[in-house]
Amino acid sequence: MIIQYHTAMYFMLLLLSALAALVQGDGSWETCANIVPVQRRGAWISLKSFGGVGDGTTLNTAAFARAIARIERRKARGGMLLYVPPGVYLTGPFNLTSHMTLYLARGVVIKATQDTWNWPLIDPLPSYGRGRELPGGRYMSLLHGSGLEDVVITGSNGTIDGQGEVWWNMWRQRSLPFTRPHLVELMYSSDVLISNIVFKNSPFWNIHPVYSSNVVVKGVTILAPYDSPNTDGVDPDSSSNVCIEDSYISTGDDMVAVKSGWDEYGISFGRPSSGITVRRVTGSNPFAGFAIGSETSGGVENVLVENLNLFKTGIGIHIKTNAGRGGYIRNVTISDVNIYGSRKGLVISGNVGDHPDENFNPNALPVVDGLTVKNVWGVDVLQPGLIRGINGSPFTRICLSNVKLNLAAGKDTQPWSCQDVSGGALEVQPSPCTELTTTSDTGFCTSSF
Ligand SMILES: *[C@@H]1O[C@H](CO)[C@@H](O)[C@H](O)[C@H]1NC(C)=O
Ligand SMILES: *[C@@H]1O[C@H](CO)[C@@H](O)[C@H](O)[C@H]1NC(C)=O
Ligand SMILES: *[C@@H]1O[C@H](CO)[C@@H](O)[C@H](O)[C@H]1NC(C)=O
Repeated sequence: MIIQYHTAMYFMLLLLSALAALVQGDGSWETCANIVPVQRRGAWISLKSFGGVGDGTTLNTAAFARAIARIERRKARGGMLLYVPPGVYLTGPFNLTSHMTLYLARGVVIKATQDTWNWPLIDPLPSYGRGRELPGGRYMSLLHGSGLEDVVITGSNGTIDGQGEVWWNMWRQRSLPFTRPHLVELMYSSDVLISNIVFKNSPFWNIHPVYSSNVVVKGVTILAPYDSPNTDGVDPDSSSNVCIEDSYISTGDDMVAVKSGWDEYGISFGRPSSGITVRRVTGSNPFAGFAIGSETSGGVENVLVENLNLFKTGIGIHIKTNAGRGGYIRNVTISDVNIYGSRKGLVISGNVGDHPDENFNPNALPVVDGLTVKNVWGVDVLQPGLIRGINGSPFTRICLSNVKLNLAAGKDTQPWSCQDVSGGALEVQPSPCTELTTTSDTGFCTSSF
């Protein structure tokens, strides 16, 4: 009964958000996906012609590499499509190339090999100075690319399965030699479209665009067990013009986390994330629905998030940074979020996350300014919110407008808690902290949105 009720609620909500989107503007769906136009490829090849065998046991790493090398050499006008016919394809990591579409037919499953011993290593990211988990290099992502343009990963809802269990177990047993691989990582790339694919059981973060621009992730389903470690959905990192829309993400960590490098390495690399849009995303996660951080040393700005539906989440919205990070988080607008059960609705915190090494500068204090959170509704919430600014760098112009979070009945609930923050609060329930209601100039925060 409960499942049926939730399913019915879910479809009701989808319908309502669809209607809400339709009535605004010119009656069409609001979308940012047009930053990457859909490519009609002039030519195509099938993985089968390059020795691909979809029997679930043959290793296809070389077949993928051969097919993609053909695309790279041919330089066909308008690029080429690599068709993966129905089947289950075991493979190790491989590199993509520019002007290509990887197309998974309906029923295709690309399965990552669990042979972690032979998984290739690549250099750490310059903005992290080391692997995120461990010093030194890191394992290459299953699908990888660097310095590419015009790359499409799509199909009829085929699956890319990272078979991450072996990696999660190494993490649990503390026997990982290096930082775990992502499912997809594109570095220094532009015009990337990822759509109509199911991503499953990633060893680590699922989709990681880094030092990239014009990236669209749309119509994807991202799944991993609730207890799988660090299986973030999509992590735009030091990237600009990233659009994430119409997706379902239920994993073991944040659904979406915007990042830009780690402490002294991120500060000296100095590449921000900006122009990030997240729209119509649904899911259930033990950590955050939408997050910024905690690695934000290159700065994060101009972020728009709207129409999220979050079920049974740890923290609805989590903006996280730390002393030593430097950088900034500014001009962020988050609106129309529904929360069905969470420990905390909204957390903005200046003391989250670890450091890459001892050489970070504790005086590199991040600046958090101009965050608006509006039209948030929630039920079954244990604490509406927690805002922990930094002593010496208080958070400024934090605006909460029409934020109604209903606390869970009969449970141990807590009120809002704030420090080192100024801003405004309008129509906030339960009543917000005095830090947000005593600011004199609240022009930046009105109820007339
Ligand atoms: C894939 O590309 C990366 C970076 O461009 C390179 O370092 C690596 O050697 C390539 N790996 C394979 C297996 O081709
Ligand atoms: C794609 O596959 C996922 C996972 O199996 C499923 O939940 C979703 O409904 C499918 N989407 C479409 C459009 O077929
Ligand atoms: C703030 O960010 C939005 C995108 O969310 C952008 O359209 C707007 O121009 C930015 N404002 C400023 C002052 O940069």
